[in-house]
Amino acid sequence: MTRMRTKRNIPARMERCHERWFDAPMLNKGNWRGACGFSEDTPVWLEIGCGKGKFCTEMAALHPEVLYIAMERDQSVTLAAVEKAHALELKNLFFIRGDAGLIENYFAEDEIDRIFLNFSDPWTRQNKPKRRLTYRAFLEKYKVMLKKGGAIEFKTDNDELFDFSLDEFRECGFTLTDETRDLHNSSYDKTNIRTEFEQKFADQGINIKRVVANY
Ligand SMILES: C[S@@+](CC[C@H](N)C(=O)[O-])C[C@H]1O[C@@H](n2cnc3c(N)ncnc32)[C@H](O)[C@@H]1O
Repeated sequence: MTRMRTKRNIPARMERCHERWFDAPMLNKGNWRGACGFSEDTPVWLEIGCGKGKFCTEMAALHPEVLYIAMERDQSVTLAAVEKAHALELKNLFFIRGDAGLIENYFAEDEIDRIFLNFSDPWTRQNKPKRRLTYRAFLEKYKVMLKKGGAIEFKTDNDELFDFSLDEFRECGFTLTDETRDLHNSSYDKTNIRTEFEQKFADQGINIKRVVANY
């Protein structure tokens, strides 16, 4: 997989899009709706590892009633996503440049309605399951911030990560629905938005796996 080249002038370019992100996002813990100018009953959706922002910008545009927060740890990639959202003038999409390993510092109990994990790094070759974003230690953190009745939507190209994740979701008490190992040839594809990586894998003829883990 080709890596993105480090972008030039990242601080200046981020500054130009400052209304899409916060200097100290941890201060929004427990008050994301207020900090972003939304009412207390607004659903909050969180995407972790949003990449260059195709999915989050399309989701935010489709769901103006939702406050959508996208988290990404790579700064060049975050910039690409932030600039995309800025160009589209999306008012309901905000970004956190940060690591999911510290997610409990950003969100309070019951603050999130839905989490999206799309094509998370599989960590298979390195055999480091504890780094997977569906490892049980991550899921336990997500459970604290997810409302009861909330859900995690998970998509991947990787069979090993998918099988691992199904086990981890079950182990952590999630109920699994909407499971498919061939998303693009399933009924769920009607409402599916493809991510950048999803399109690349589909072009290579790889079946996309998808499941919803309900809390
Ligand atoms: C394989 S890419 C997928 C990008 C995008 N979701 C897509 O489907 O096109 C995984 C992304 O997750 C980000 N990522 C990986 N681990 C992360 C973590 N612990 N916290 C935040 N972002 C992470 C990476 O920087 C990368 O941009």
